[in-house]
Amino acid sequence: MPRPILATIHPAALQHNLARNRLAAPDAKVWAVVKANAYGHGIERVFEGLRSADGFALLDLDEARRVRELGWRGPILLLEGVFEARDLELCSRLDLWHTVHCEEQIDMLAACKTHVGHRVFLKMNSGMNRLGFTPACYRSAWARLNALPQVDEISLMTHFSDADGGQGIAAQMACFSEVTRDLPGERSLSNSAASLRHADAVRASDWIRPGISLYGSSPDHPEHWASEWGLWPTMTLAAKIIAVRDIAAGASVGYGSRFVADAPMRLGVVACGYADGYPRVCPNGTPVLVAGVRSRLVGRVSMDMVTVDLTPVPEAGMGSEVTLWGRATNGAVLGIDEVAQAAGTLGYELMCALAQRVPVQVAD
Ligand SMILES: Cc1ncc(COP(=O)(O)O)c(C=O)c1O
Repeated sequence: MPRPILATIHPAALQHNLARNRLAAPDAKVWAVVKANAYGHGIERVFEGLRSADGFALLDLDEARRVRELGWRGPILLLEGVFEARDLELCSRLDLWHTVHCEEQIDMLAACKTHVGHRVFLKMNSGMNRLGFTPACYRSAWARLNALPQVDEISLMTHFSDADGGQGIAAQMACFSEVTRDLPGERSLSNSAASLRHADAVRASDWIRPGISLYGSSPDHPEHWASEWGLWPTMTLAAKIIAVRDIAAGASVGYGSRFVADAPMRLGVVACGYADGYPRVCPNGTPVLVAGVRSRLVGRVSMDMVTVDLTPVPEAGMGSEVTLWGRATNGAVLGIDEVAQAAGTLGYELMCALAQRVPVQVAD
């Protein structure tokens, strides 16, 4: 029998979350961001749930090839563009649209021989200071691209650094709008946080680019829970209890004896550890669902096991289901953001870190 741990991907939730994003931006087209293997879910596993998107945005040429192999004939956007000149051939062959964020990428385009014009998204660094042309250089980059016979159409894009926080998007919006004012072309501005929180960005976007909200995690947790945004969990990580132990008051649990029982209690040992992608840093008290009932982690997370308090679920025993995040069989939900918060990180990191050894099923 395989080790009793399983991740489940929920296509209906993906579909629902996509629809939720459309509601926020009814006039915009949607790039479903599926980079990092669809935020750890698996591109092949999310494809059906997200196929009503207008396009798929990702980073790796290999991921782009996989989307084409699934039969997708619509737009695919490389969010970081090409990494070397020969990638441009593949862009032509697979009909990939690509971001242009630096002069070197324009040089590569200028030097490439192609019969089919490239569709590019010219990226502005409006304040994130990661990729993109500075506002001062943006228009000359546009003019350079526009003069190239290799380029068919230029769209305009930027990426917000603080759409999820108090600083917001106003300064970056103002900068982008000012520099691009009279330039033709479609605009793509909004990640999940901008799409859900900032009507301005949505109004100015021909294409929104949601990632995390498609996967049921709140883009601005802890200000809002995913449920407050109407988002459903798309990944459940669940395992079973493989041992039950009664311990006396004063007994400690696990490596480093980090948890000490203050009263007699029953523990469940669960077949999930940090080698499965469950964060080792989760403290005592991190929430779990035991048979769909809320309980807590006690003791340090080890490579292959965690220990949980069975006090709130006296009927739980060997083989009982423990939901580490997502939806339990009884319908109860433990948001990935809550576990991420306990671990001092974000839902993004947890879903992306689901380990290779965890079997994954796609729900009906
Ligand atoms: C350029 C770009 N657009 C869109 C996204 C999607 O962002 P989010 O997952 O926060 O919606 C990302 C993610 O980092 C990105 O880098």
